Amino acid sequence: MNWNQLIEQTLDMTRANVSRFQTGFPHVSQGDGKYQLVEHTDWTEGFWSGILWLSYEYSKDEAIRQVAAAATATFQERLAMQSHLEHHDIGFLYLLSTGAQWIVEQDEAARKSTLEAADLLLTRWRPTARILQAWGPEGDEINGGRIIIDCLMNLPLLYWASEQTGDPRYADIARIHAEQSQRFLVRGDGSSYHTFYFDTSTGDAVRGGTHQGFRDGSTWTRGQAWGIYGFALAYRYFRDAAFLDTSKRLARYFIEHLPEDQIAYWDFDAPQKESEPRDSSASAIAACGVLELAEHLPADDSDRAELLTFAERSVAALAKHCFSGATNGESEGEGFLRHGSYYVRGGIAIDDYVIWGDYFFLEALMRLAHGIPGYWFERGR
Ligand code: GLY
Repeated sequence: MNWNQLIEQTLDMTRANVSRFQTGFPHVSQGDGKYQLVEHTDWTEGFWSGILWLSYEYSKDEAIRQVAAAATATFQERLAMQSHLEHHDIGFLYLLSTGAQWIVEQDEAARKSTLEAADLLLTRWRPTARILQAWGPEGDEINGGRIIIDCLMNLPLLYWASEQTGDPRYADIARIHAEQSQRFLVRGDGSSYHTFYFDTSTGDAVRGGTHQGFRDGSTWTRGQAWGIYGFALAYRYFRDAAFLDTSKRLARYFIEHLPEDQIAYWDFDAPQKESEPRDSSASAIAACGVLELAEHLPADDSDRAELLTFAERSVAALAKHCFSGATNGESEGEGFLRHGSYYVRGGIAIDDYVIWGDYFFLEALMRLAHGIPGYWFERGR
């Protein structure tokens, strides 16, 4: 597979999308192949700025850099207004915008905003339950003691803040949250709960459940993929072999439960049959997570070669079955990856474009072709 040719095609699509989207941020499509645009009201805006920074890093196209910087400035306004930030996805938002700008151009204002974002994420720390609360305000009746597996991808903001400031508090809290996630979200067979509830007054573990999965106790494929990648990143920071082992167990479960064509269905416990929706974004995230995981395994690790082959095969399968781009420039829709699914039981964006699927597809290509690993950690660490 020619990764660079695919990257060039995404670049053409991104240039076309820049003129389409203007100041809007693509979120998901709903049946018509066109992205719905949001403006700092959701958890997904960072994926568009992330695509822009990756595209700039690859192309060095000054026009793209300017769009990336302008988009990133709006994240600073959002932070100043504290608008729609009462949730844990501050990591997704700020690692891929101001965090990316810091990594790419050492912009001091971007660094400062990223640190402010980390401080905001810390306000979600609930010491009795020893968790970062995912959703809703403190004391929320339903969500007050709830974690979700996706949060593992927000924790790198806290690792980064500890490195930048020398203050261990950010990473200490992130580590406790990662350990709670490891203990309560990951099951013995390497599958995972999407969410878990704790009693906020006693800290007791209550039960696992789901939000976007097939049922409580099922393994939602995107959650599993967040876990693969998130625990591999926890290993990169803490060098604790237990995190690497957890990432590997989640990866093995993911790989062993995929259909023949490698594109994950939306939940491993939903019927694995053609009429059921896929979630191509889960496959793209898992590919990036496995590339991160494999990087930490010694050359003689018996699983390393198999994991690398899996990642390459997945990206090739996404290119074959899901990629909208065309070499003649006539792409099929606005997104890179068809067959993403956001919230199947909720009826939102099923078999559609989802912007995070596009981001992780591009990150996987960048990792494979150029060793550019996205913006989850400082380069060279
Ligand atoms: N983090 C939300 C999702 O994956 O849908």
